[in-house]
Amino acid sequence: MNFLTDRFLVSADRFDGPILVTGAGGCIGAWTVAILSRSGVPCVAADLQDDRTRPSLVMGADAAGALTWEVLDVTDATRVAEVVKSHGIRTIIHLAGLQVPFCAANPALGARVNVEGTINMLEAARHAEIKRITYASSIASVSFPPGGPYKETLYGAYKLANENTAYVYWNDWEVPSIGLRPNVVYGVARDQGMSSLNTAGIQAAAMGLPFEIPYTGSYSWLYAGEAAAAFIAAVSQAGESASVFDLNGRCETIENGLSILRGLDSGMAVTAKGDPFPFPADLDEAPLWASVPKYPHVSVQNGIEDTYRAFKQLIADGQVTALPG
Ligand SMILES: NC(=O)c1ccc[n+]([C@@H]2O[C@H](COP(=O)([O-])OP(=O)(O)OC[C@H]3O[C@@H](n4cnc5c(N)ncnc54)[C@H](O)[C@@H]3O)[C@@H](O)[C@H]2O)c1
Repeated sequence: MNFLTDRFLVSADRFDGPILVTGAGGCIGAWTVAILSRSGVPCVAADLQDDRTRPSLVMGADAAGALTWEVLDVTDATRVAEVVKSHGIRTIIHLAGLQVPFCAANPALGARVNVEGTINMLEAARHAEIKRITYASSIASVSFPPGGPYKETLYGAYKLANENTAYVYWNDWEVPSIGLRPNVVYGVARDQGMSSLNTAGIQAAAMGLPFEIPYTGSYSWLYAGEAAAAFIAAVSQAGESASVFDLNGRCETIENGLSILRGLDSGMAVTAKGDPFPFPADLDEAPLWASVPKYPHVSVQNGIEDTYRAFKQLIADGQVTALPG
C-alpha cells in the first residue's frame, strides 16, 4: 500500500520535534500520520478512542499498530497540556472535530469540540511556546457573513470562530497559526457524510456494485493525501502570523470523474444524478501555494486511479468488505 503515500513523503529535517496530530483516527488524520511516520518524522497520534481502522487502510495494520497513540479528548484542557508536555511536542496539526450533521444534532457538543477544543490546542501551544500550529477550518466558513449564496451551518459558524480566535492568539500572545479550509476531500478512508459519496462510488466500482452519486456538475476533488500534505507543509516552518487559506483541490465535474473511473473499469455501474453540490468548487489556492513550502498537487486522474487501485487491494485483503453505512 506504500504507493498511496509515496508521492507525499517529506524530509524529517524540516521539523524540530514531535508533532501532535489530533483527529488521527479520522480521514485526513489517518493520511497525516501515515505520511509522517513513513517519512520518519516523530509524531503522536491522538483521538477520542484508540481506533486505528482508518490509518490501517492507508498505511497497513502493522504500521498503524506501531504508531504512538494517545487517547485524548480535545475538550479536556488539562489532558491536552499533559500530552503536549509529556511528549515534548513542538508542532500541532489539529484536525479533531465534529462534522456538519453532528454539530446540528448536538450544537453544544459541537461547540465544545470544535471551538473549545481549538482554544485548548492554542492555549497549550501558548504555554509550551510552540510556533508551528495548523488547524482545520472548513470551506463551510465561506457561508458567512450570512445572506450569501451558500448555506450557513453551525459547523461553519464554529470554524469561523476558530479563525478569529487564532487571530487573537497571534495578536495578543504571539501564537502563530495557519488555518486551512479544506473543500470536499475524497480518497481511501473518506467514509462519512454526503460529500463522501464520490469516494463511495469509486469503492463501489472496485467492488463491482451498482451505485448512484446523488449530485452532478462541478466538484472540488481534494485528494485526501494532498490535504494531509498541505497540513504538513503548513507546519514545516515556524509561523509568523495567524493566516487562513482555502484548500480547494482540483475543480472537475462528477461526470468527468466517472469517465476516468470508466477508463479504469469499463464494466462499472456507477452513475450520478441530481443537482450540483451546494458549495463553491473552484476556490483560489494560489495564496496558500505562495505561503507554504511546496507539496504535491494530485490530478483527478491520479487521485481516482490510486483510490480505485487501493480499494481493489483492500477488498482482496479483506480489509474492506462493504460500502460505508
Ligand atoms: N473531510 C472533508 O471533506 C473536510 C472538509 C473541510 C474541513 N474538514 C475538517 O478537517 C478535519 C478533519 O476532517 P476528517 O474528514 O478527517 O474528519 P473525520 O470526521 O474523519 O475525523 C475527525 C476525527 O476527530 C475525532 N474527534 C471527534 N471529537 C473529538 C474529541 N472531542 N477529541 C478528540 N478527537 C475527536 C473523531 O473521532 C475523528 O476521528 C475536521 O476538523 C473537519 O471539520 C474536513
